[in-house]
Amino acid sequence: MVPWFPLYYEEPLEIVSGEGCTVTDADGASYLEFYAGIAVNTLGYKVPEVHEAVERQLRKGVVHTSTFYLIGRQVELAERIAALSGIPDPLVFFTCSGTEAVEAALLATTEYRQSSQIIALRYGYHGRSFGGLGVTGDRHWQGSGLSPVRVAHARGGERRRGGLSGLDDKAYVRACREDLEELVGTSTPERTAAMIVEPVQGIAGGIPLVPGQLAAYREVLDEYEIPLIVDEVQTGWGRTGKYWGYQWHQITPDVLVFAKGVGNGFTLGGLVGRRDIMSSLDAPSISSFGGNHLSTAAAVATLDYIAAHDLTTAARRLGAVLIDGLKESLDDEPCVSQVRGQGLLLGIEFSHPGTLKPFPEMAARVQQLCRENALLVGLGGTFGNCLRLSPPLTVQEDQVRLATRVIAASTRAARAD
Ligand SMILES: Cc1ncc(COP(=O)(O)O)c(C=O)c1O
Repeated sequence: MVPWFPLYYEEPLEIVSGEGCTVTDADGASYLEFYAGIAVNTLGYKVPEVHEAVERQLRKGVVHTSTFYLIGRQVELAERIAALSGIPDPLVFFTCSGTEAVEAALLATTEYRQSSQIIALRYGYHGRSFGGLGVTGDRHWQGSGLSPVRVAHARGGERRRGGLSGLDDKAYVRACREDLEELVGTSTPERTAAMIVEPVQGIAGGIPLVPGQLAAYREVLDEYEIPLIVDEVQTGWGRTGKYWGYQWHQITPDVLVFAKGVGNGFTLGGLVGRRDIMSSLDAPSISSFGGNHLSTAAAVATLDYIAAHDLTTAARRLGAVLIDGLKESLDDEPCVSQVRGQGLLLGIEFSHPGTLKPFPEMAARVQQLCRENALLVGLGGTFGNCLRLSPPLTVQEDQVRLATRVIAASTRAARAD
């Protein structure tokens, strides 16, 4: 297999079974799973409601028919997502992944605006295709310096680095707005296709946009009639403690991209957006697999479960328990430079004491020690120096407290090594 396909840990871990927030590896060891397959397993593992919905469909003998034949459940799901999106009278298109959904959003907006100019955010990540990587603002993932679209990067949620460090929230937001105004007023072509943003910059290590930042950007975009694409691939379906991450920012997007958590592991992505933008493609377009019988069955069951168990509120409440607990127990750790995030999408950043100089070796060591203490957490961030936490939204409070203790103990042990 290709060399650009990293595995966590020196001794790779193979998960062979799971239930709830617990998984078991090929050697029989069990772990508390606090990454949920990169924020995909919204409900955790072995969820009867989802499995039964998929098994019911399997028993009918139809896994796939292509989108040339009507898939009733796809229409039902589209209507639900349209109603949930907050975008007036929108249209929906299903894909198999977040990357493809981003690609479709870029295609629709560039065509709608007759422009190949996109504005994205520094530290952002939008998938591994040519267009997705083109707009990605994190060099670590880019791979290729080429792009099918022109891209300019505005400021993201990281306000401790660079020329605006030291500003408080309000001053930072004002500076961001002025910077965007200058960018679209002077540097980019007269017509810009869209701006694309993640409400919490997930791959960057769980960095939320600053309160007021997206609303300030929206004002500038409105002035220039530039559509706003929110990439909710990591932040959607209640993970941040609101149904969509954008809802923390008092704005409405023009296009919303989703994937990951919607199918609880069954591959589904898509986009929902303004009717005029989504209708702009002047040619038929299909996705052989997008929104097929199995993934839509899983997604309907997942959305039912999220609503029935009010997992959005759970994510807000348990996210607060997790972040408060981590901040308190890691307060004295000299190598922890920030604990941040929103709801159950968090990052713990490791730097050399007293600086922001990334300390990826420390983050990796803590991740390894967490594994040895039966806890799985992600490792990433722009500089590879963050632990990433995104447990299933069904996680219990005692599990949150246990994970907090394990991370604190592993950090102490890593420092003493
Ligand atoms: C914000 C964001 N957009 C897009 C993607 C790409 O999604 P996928 O891996 O399903 O292609 C990701 C993946 O992590 C993501 O975090």
